[in-house]
Amino acid sequence: MSDDDTPPPFNGPPPIRISRRTLLLGIGALGIIGAGGYWLTEGQSQNLGSAFTNPLRIPPLLESELIDGERVFHLTAHAGDTELVPGTRFGTMGFNGTHLGPTIRAARGEHVRVHVTNALSMPTTAHWHGMILPAAQDGTPHQSIHPGDTWTAAWTVDQPPATLWYHPHPHGQTELQVGRGMAGLFLIDDDAPVNLPTEYGIDDIPVIIQDISLQPGGTQPGTPTTAPIGRIGNTVIINGTYQPHFESTTGLVRFRILNASTARCYNLQLSTKEAFHLVATDGGILPSPVALTSLLLSPAERAEILIQIPSDEDIVLRSVPHDLGMSQGDNITSGADDTLELLRITRPITRRTDRSLPASLPASLPASLPATALPQPPAISIERHFTLGDTTINGKTMDMDRIDTLVTAGTTEKWMIINDSDRAHNFHIHGTQFTVDTVNATPPAAHLRGWKDTVFIPSGNTVELIVPFSSFADAATPYMYHCHLLWHEDQGMMAQYALTNGQLAIAPDDDEHKSHH
Ligand code: C2O
Ligand code: CU
Ligand code: CU
Repeated sequence: MSDDDTPPPFNGPPPIRISRRTLLLGIGALGIIGAGGYWLTEGQSQNLGSAFTNPLRIPPLLESELIDGERVFHLTAHAGDTELVPGTRFGTMGFNGTHLGPTIRAARGEHVRVHVTNALSMPTTAHWHGMILPAAQDGTPHQSIHPGDTWTAAWTVDQPPATLWYHPHPHGQTELQVGRGMAGLFLIDDDAPVNLPTEYGIDDIPVIIQDISLQPGGTQPGTPTTAPIGRIGNTVIINGTYQPHFESTTGLVRFRILNASTARCYNLQLSTKEAFHLVATDGGILPSPVALTSLLLSPAERAEILIQIPSDEDIVLRSVPHDLGMSQGDNITSGADDTLELLRITRPITRRTDRSLPASLPASLPASLPATALPQPPAISIERHFTLGDTTINGKTMDMDRIDTLVTAGTTEKWMIINDSDRAHNFHIHGTQFTVDTVNATPPAAHLRGWKDTVFIPSGNTVELIVPFSSFADAATPYMYHCHLLWHEDQGMMAQYALTNGQLAIAPDDDEHKSHH
């Protein structure tokens, strides 16, 4: 593997970067460098991925029962202690365990029912991020589950195959709970044949990326850095695995990547510098694979990528320096200058006899994919503008009792999101999958031409989104839209929309700038 590139020069003291002295001490005295992702100090280049030997954990698939035509699942939120790093326990939270949650799978057309029990000592919720469903089933702060209680969500899955996820959404406490590990995947399937790897845990691999904080030296939990985008850890874990290694039995693997970090962005790249292929964005499969050599994933975004894995070569999936569009100092505290090793991938020549290996797995890159048609722009009913401040949307912070935006159910709107602050943000809308129409008034790059529910918006940037809203009118129960940098969200960078039957054109306090077409 080639690792001959050096990170770009940096100016100023990097707050979480481990100094060369600590780095050398770490190697010499402890045999570790103190971080699951490694920070290469200035001018350094090392083949660090070779330290990654812990087998990648695969979140179990959640069992379900079919009862009266419904697929029924059970989740329980727990707190506990988890040895996230060998020898070091962290205070964690999870679903059906003390860290992360099982993978939920359901097919398009199925009626699902999920019973969620709160065994925490604080209120929580279970939000189905990316799901198109009635607002009362969405698990927002309005569907709070008190300690000891069980809340049940039920809906019909009716959207294209996608990698969605679930996480808590308690008012003001989302960063805490997600940061401690409350996150799981929710995969949607359908009956149509798909020419992509589909064997869960074999060639269809979940990759849930979170950052945690270790004290330098690596023996105790540490304190995250406070950055303009939120709290930044110094150690990356994948599916809860420290320094993970995935040993592939096939030459083509689909990785379903979720950035479940509260603030940190990752700029994905392969150590070989070879292209990987993006085959799905947040809400579904693309019309054809998009070859990329890097991909920036902000919190809550998903990417399904195909990686071709040659025999007997180490490939390291890593995150490389990127530009979050802030000042250089803010970029650095926000982690944008870090080089992080995420996952080592190998494929041994002498393959162990694997009983579970299915007979025929796709080995080559598909030329086209069974994508679902994207919405056609013409039918836009209304255009709205949202301006992002440091922790505000249109100058306001979240008020549970204020519905900011009334949308006529079943219509498609154009939402223009303007990041007018010095901070990087992203923007997530509940209850829909949208498309990106423009980025700074120009057509979006290829990796943004699919279904999305969360879009990254650097400082000074403007995106226009085409947002098709569902027909689940319920004027009394709002959905959320917000920045998914969770510290910003908890600070109030969130607002509410409700779907109406169209009887109320403008709510009394709906003071957005609007233009009717
Ligand atoms: Cu991922 Cu409002 O949520
Ligand atoms: Cu959401
Ligand atoms: Cu933000």
